[in-house]
Amino acid sequence: MSWTAEDMGDLGGETVIVTGANSGLGFSATKELARHGAEVVMACRNLEKADDAKQEIENEVDNADLEVIKLDLADLESVSSFVEKFRREHDSLDVLCNNAGLMAIPRRETQHGFEMQLGVNHLGHFALTGHLIDMIQESAGRVVNQSSMAHEGGEIDFDDLMGEDDYSKWGAYGQSKLANLLFTYELDRRLEDVDSEAMSIGCHPGVSDTNLFRKGPEMTGSRIKLLVGEVFTRILGQSADKGCLPMLYAATSDALEGGEYIGPDGFREMRGYPEKQESTEDSHNREDAQRLWEVSEELTGVSFSLD
Ligand SMILES: NC(=O)c1ccc[n+]([C@@H]2O[C@H](COP(=O)([O-])OP(=O)(O)OC[C@H]3O[C@@H](n4cnc5c(N)ncnc54)[C@H](OP(=O)(O)O)[C@@H]3O)[C@@H](O)[C@H]2O)c1
Repeated sequence: MSWTAEDMGDLGGETVIVTGANSGLGFSATKELARHGAEVVMACRNLEKADDAKQEIENEVDNADLEVIKLDLADLESVSSFVEKFRREHDSLDVLCNNAGLMAIPRRETQHGFEMQLGVNHLGHFALTGHLIDMIQESAGRVVNQSSMAHEGGEIDFDDLMGEDDYSKWGAYGQSKLANLLFTYELDRRLEDVDSEAMSIGCHPGVSDTNLFRKGPEMTGSRIKLLVGEVFTRILGQSADKGCLPMLYAATSDALEGGEYIGPDGFREMRGYPEKQESTEDSHNREDAQRLWEVSEELTGVSFSLD
């Protein structure tokens, strides 16, 4: 039988962080987690948008337990400030949903000079996870990384990771989404090596109708690409409420083990209900995963203390 948000059961007493909780998949996931009793920390870069989103969920869900904390993944100092605030106010963390992301935008750089898509989608989340991994281990919790079918065409260009010599907006997106999975599986192996009960799981939403497809065309002012994106997601995609199900399943299902990958069960994984999927051979390449891990530690200055 198809798994839906109704199968999540009671999440009372659980604390979950969702990055990018003000929009699209993060918003829908936050709403359902709150509906099932979890305390959800909405980690968002724009406080005004985040407060509006929080209000919208509170209007729909009685007794929603939500808190907004500012997090800009394009700024490692913001990542550290987020973690400091979270730790001051919370004793435990059960699930970290690394969901926020940008897709196919013109080349931009983060505060530390990282190419923006790799910087936000992978490096910011790598740093966030490294800062919080002790709390996740203490609660035998989970890290859930939102990847994409775009990982299938992705390559990690270790010689030009930041696209300084040769930038392609889709290449950079594919690289960042492959990085999400290399990180997911490497983290899970490292947790297993120390006999941790914590897990790291990957997921993807298929094609979902969110703001993701609008950002790139809006930045370049391309009305045609905006229109093509709208038509593409409307025809092939599903709602954000459905697209967030793989992330919710990965975050809460007892039927899963670490290192698994969840996506929709329909035609070409573009839509449908969550089930276990296979990611590419490249995403399981251990040498690349270790190398990416080392580079990510070096770039972010964050190392994981796993025990
Ligand atoms: N929609 C799809 O079909 C699809 C397919 C495959 C994978 N995904 C993945 O799903 C995830 C969520 O995307 P979505 O579809 O829900 O798109 P969305 O509606 O555009 O949501 C993206 C979220 O990420 C946030 N974000 C962007 N840059 C950030 C930063 N520097 N710091 C913190 N937050 C930041 C956005 O904040 P603002 O609102 O302030 O911009 C927004 O909350 C992404 O990782 C994406 O790659 C989506």
